[in-house]
Amino acid sequence: MSELPKVTIATIKKKKKRGEKIVTLTAYDYFTSRLMNQAGIDLILVGDSLGMVVLGYENTVPVTMSDMLHHTRAVVRGNSRCLVVADMPFLSYQVSDEEALHNAGRFIQEAGAHAVKLEGGKEVSSLVAKMVRAGITVLGHIGLLPQDILKDGGYIVRGKDSASAGELLEDARALEEAGAFAVVLECIPASVAGEITAALKIPTIGIGAGPLCDGQILVVHDLLGIFDQFQPKFVKRYADLRQIMLDAFKAYKKDVEESKFPQEEHSY
Ligand code: KIV
Repeated sequence: MSELPKVTIATIKKKKKRGEKIVTLTAYDYFTSRLMNQAGIDLILVGDSLGMVVLGYENTVPVTMSDMLHHTRAVVRGNSRCLVVADMPFLSYQVSDEEALHNAGRFIQEAGAHAVKLEGGKEVSSLVAKMVRAGITVLGHIGLLPQDILKDGGYIVRGKDSASAGELLEDARALEEAGAFAVVLECIPASVAGEITAALKIPTIGIGAGPLCDGQILVVHDLLGIFDQFQPKFVKRYADLRQIMLDAFKAYKKDVEESKFPQEEHSY
């Protein structure tokens, strides 16, 4: 489909060395995955944000392994060159290391993902090391951790004081040592993200973490202006698809009600 070379873990790591930005988006379906391939996106994350932007849940907690496998397979079917990472949902890696390895393996073997992502720093680093030893490539995720919403009672922005910033750096280093190929930094001060990015050999991919990260990720529904229930400060909307879709649905309704559709050219 595309002339662009396939993106591998080596490509992602090389981009950091060369100072080239890593362009990442979330996707949850075949059609969007195909478009991202054509657009030259480097890495597609099948995020558990699926729960909010596609499945209509209040947060990511209800998302299951079977939801994630189903959508990862669809993204993989539309993929020819991006690196596809599947997000491990709540309780798919916290119960035991054995279960976590088994679930991570399902994303690779059954769904065709190239890597998995899981949330957490030092507390998951020994698990990340086990996955890497087993041959599973892992993307880390620190900063704001959406799966902790029940425990924390809300979304906690970390790294605002020097103690918390220091912990983030330790978390990032622990993930690097464990063998993660890159780490997502979510909603942390830009200066802290800059320090972490400079301290690590592996790339950082920021969301709400400022311009100094090695790459950026956005939730595709935010970028396209489809998800309108709230808009975080870090989102830049590149389209207003919600309005375009709403106008199309209304125009179709009007045409059908007024017998203007279908016409002769639409009929057999
Ligand atoms: O689930 C998701 O979309 C994510 C990104 C926001 C990093 O974890």
